[in-house]
Amino acid sequence: MSQETTLDGARVSVRVPAKVNLFLAVRGVRDDGYHELTTVLQTVSIFDELRVAVTGPPGQGHHPAARRRMRLVLRHGGQAGLPDGEANLAVRAGLLLGRAAGVLDGVTETAPAGPTTLLELAKAIPIAGGMAGGSADAAAALVALNELWRCELPRQRLRELAGELGSDVPFCVTGGTALASGRGTALAQVLCKGRFHWVVVPDAVPLRTGDVYRAWDERCEASEIEPDAVLQALRSADAVALGAALHNDLEPAAFALRPELADRKDRLIAAGALGAVLSGSGPTMLALVADKSHARAVADVVTPALGAPILATSPAGGPEVRASATPPRSRDPERPLK
Ligand code: C5P
Repeated sequence: MSQETTLDGARVSVRVPAKVNLFLAVRGVRDDGYHELTTVLQTVSIFDELRVAVTGPPGQGHHPAARRRMRLVLRHGGQAGLPDGEANLAVRAGLLLGRAAGVLDGVTETAPAGPTTLLELAKAIPIAGGMAGGSADAAAALVALNELWRCELPRQRLRELAGELGSDVPFCVTGGTALASGRGTALAQVLCKGRFHWVVVPDAVPLRTGDVYRAWDERCEASEIEPDAVLQALRSADAVALGAALHNDLEPAAFALRPELADRKDRLIAAGALGAVLSGSGPTMLALVADKSHARAVADVVTPALGAPILATSPAGGPEVRASATPPRSRDPERPLK
């Protein structure tokens, strides 16, 4: 993002973590077609970074009316499988926020030349891996653009908008550790005293969340298992207990679609992990380990058979504004842009 094209020098950078489901129980199908869940979510230290700025010809974009015609453009490293334009959840988040806050009048990819809000995405979270990568980017866009455009919507309002974008997005706006119910959007904060270490095994071939839930419909029954053991392990910082309590009702469905995932889980346990579990709807597999050196030892055993694992820790906070430069309000009495 080159400085000379940035209007007013306004730019914001947000770092956002991936999530894992330490526990996921499927209670059945809801009237709206989604599945009723009880799940314990936690952020892990694999981060995407979203940088946003208003760019365009100097002298434009200062007036709210000009910004109403603003384009929203996403740039990324060209990774395979990463959706472009409005197919990307971060762009959809920007359009939703822009409309909700009264910043943008309409869809703007084809707007006439003028100010452009540029979203630059640097990805480390596996794409379509069951770690809420797209949802994290959407959360980052809500937080970053709320600041860049000075919408001043409270986090609670951002969480409401997030729920319109996807089931995992409200949690990604919050971060930390949470117990979720409903389709995954009703959140209660959970006490977590420990810091946990993970060997994360991504898969190059994505699994579609909807396909995994359909496979669950075809072969699985609603479960009544409760997350008490996971919650207790988090409260008492007990990695051994957490390893034993990790649970995901979507595993049989994902394993049916991708049989090698079951073998992957067995290998991680055989390599000495305290426990292993599918991340969300997969295909990423997570192995809990005792500490950093245990993580290296387990990773060494499974590399290269399972590819190149990522070492991570949890919890990892929430979306974090790492750099922000927005011009002072007094320079333009017509702001904020809402
Ligand atoms: O909410 P999100 O767009 O992330 O969900 C993707 C798909 O996963 C949905 O279209 C639905 O098929 C499935 N899903 C579900 N129940 C949930 C969450 C997701 O059936 N609680």
